[in-house]
Amino acid sequence: MKKIAIFASGNGTNAQRIAEYFSDKKNINISIILSNKKDAYVLQRAENLDIPAYSFNRDEFYKTDIVLKKLKNNKIDLIVLAGFLWLVPDNILREYPKRIINIHPALLPKYGGKGMYGAKVHEAVIEANDPETGISMHYVNEKYDEGEIIFQAKIPVEKHDTPDSIAQKVHQLEYEHFPRVIEEILMERNGML
Ligand code: GAR
Repeated sequence: MKKIAIFASGNGTNAQRIAEYFSDKKNINISIILSNKKDAYVLQRAENLDIPAYSFNRDEFYKTDIVLKKLKNNKIDLIVLAGFLWLVPDNILREYPKRIINIHPALLPKYGGKGMYGAKVHEAVIEANDPETGISMHYVNEKYDEGEIIFQAKIPVEKHDTPDSIAQKVHQLEYEHFPRVIEEILMERNGML
């Protein structure tokens, strides 16, 4: 049994999609959903899905081992950042090399970095007149959105697109690929799955 921890800061539609995708798979389990915001809707989703949830504040995350211990106690194999907006601290990075992945709503290395999330990313794409945008999944390191890219998928940007319409299309793309790529990563590492 491979165990996944999902980190999310807000709504958590990706977290829910991932949890639903794995709900009927015997060999992969979403063991815990964590958030840096105690009122994030993703925590309500976790409760509805009957998945243990945990929230933490900045000091707990950056100055203590509380979150790391939570992950170890749950014997987590893979950490998935699904709309999580804080950098992962060194104590967790060290313990989970190449075992933390993030999704970003653009074609990295474009439109990544601190402060680039949600509508800001899509506004920048429109501003630059880019003909296409998409999603990137990458390993997480000590910098925002700079780890090795694992997977990308593209969609065209059309004349009538707005940040909202791009966000919707990008979310659809995320729902389609994110759970599947997570499964592939775990399968590649564990021929037995
Ligand atoms: C997703 O589109 C994800 O790519 C993005 O936040 C959204 C979360 O949506 N992540 C980032 O921008 C990270 N820099 P959700 O809460 O509905 O899953």
